[in-house]
Amino acid sequence: MSLAGRRVDASWLALRGDEDARARSDFTAGLADRLAAHVRATVADRPLRLVDVGAGTGGGAAWLRHQLQPRLPFPQEWRLVDLDSDLLDRAPAVQGGWAHAVVGDIANTAALLDEEPADVVTCQALLDLLTPHQLRQLLMPTMGSGAFVLLALTVTGTVRLTPPDDDDELLADLFNAHQLRAGRLGPDASRRAGELLRRNGYDVISVHTPWRLGPATGALLEQWLHGRAAAAAEQDPGRVDRIERWLDGRLTSASSRTLTSIVDHVDLLGLPPAAIRASPR
Ligand SMILES: C[S@@+](CC[C@H](N)C(=O)[O-])C[C@H]1O[C@@H](n2cnc3c(N)ncnc32)[C@H](O)[C@@H]1O
Repeated sequence: MSLAGRRVDASWLALRGDEDARARSDFTAGLADRLAAHVRATVADRPLRLVDVGAGTGGGAAWLRHQLQPRLPFPQEWRLVDLDSDLLDRAPAVQGGWAHAVVGDIANTAALLDEEPADVVTCQALLDLLTPHQLRQLLMPTMGSGAFVLLALTVTGTVRLTPPDDDDELLADLFNAHQLRAGRLGPDASRRAGELLRRNGYDVISVHTPWRLGPATGALLEQWLHGRAAAAAEQDPGRVDRIERWLDGRLTSASSRTLTSIVDHVDLLGLPPAAIRASPR
């Protein structure tokens, strides 16, 4: 049980990719409609410029590109920003030539948008990793530029395992506390982002985008259980025996195809004040 290394593993992003896309397609397609309607009213006769921050291997960008293509008559120009050049190099979007890779930190968002503005700034599975300072580094220049914002798949900390186990609550408390390490926003990220957007005149629409893990997503469920237990053990090493017992029981249920887990996330769409005034239907 280990969280070995803090870099995000490309194989983890590949494993979760299908479930990320399914969760967003089931629940966020309405947000894509709203975004497209507003963008259509404000962008005319030029390519749409989009930035995916913390893009990793570009799963979130690929999802949104696919959603917007049939809804908008504009070509899309994408920039994928991440600290990790290895992940960007592996991104099919970069390999396929439809996105530019930008190796950089969220701290550089202002410079990135100064160099070339974006119509849409998006991220996926990123916000809960950020500190309040980083959230501002991302959102203040984005809002200053008047871009649309789509902040996707932020964990809320709510998880429902079926059938329940006596130690699910212990694991949830330890995991959620671990999410807050080093001043990160963790489960509070989406609420804080929504507040910041509203305070700056943005209209905010949110939808829940839960993963639904079970027999059909067996490998992801298993990895997710391991990750949850590893984070809990790191948070409270004194309880490692109890955490391992919980993990063994949950893995046994998963392998006998009797375990399901709903892992809640939130997607937020932020509409800038100018778009609200234009108010397309
Ligand atoms: C959980 S992964 C999500 C990747 C991708 N958005 C997806 O959904 O598949 C979080 C990503 O954020 C990147 N990241 C974390 N902190 C960052 C920062 N300060 N600046 C830029 N990227 C960052 C990581 O390298 C990682 O690729």
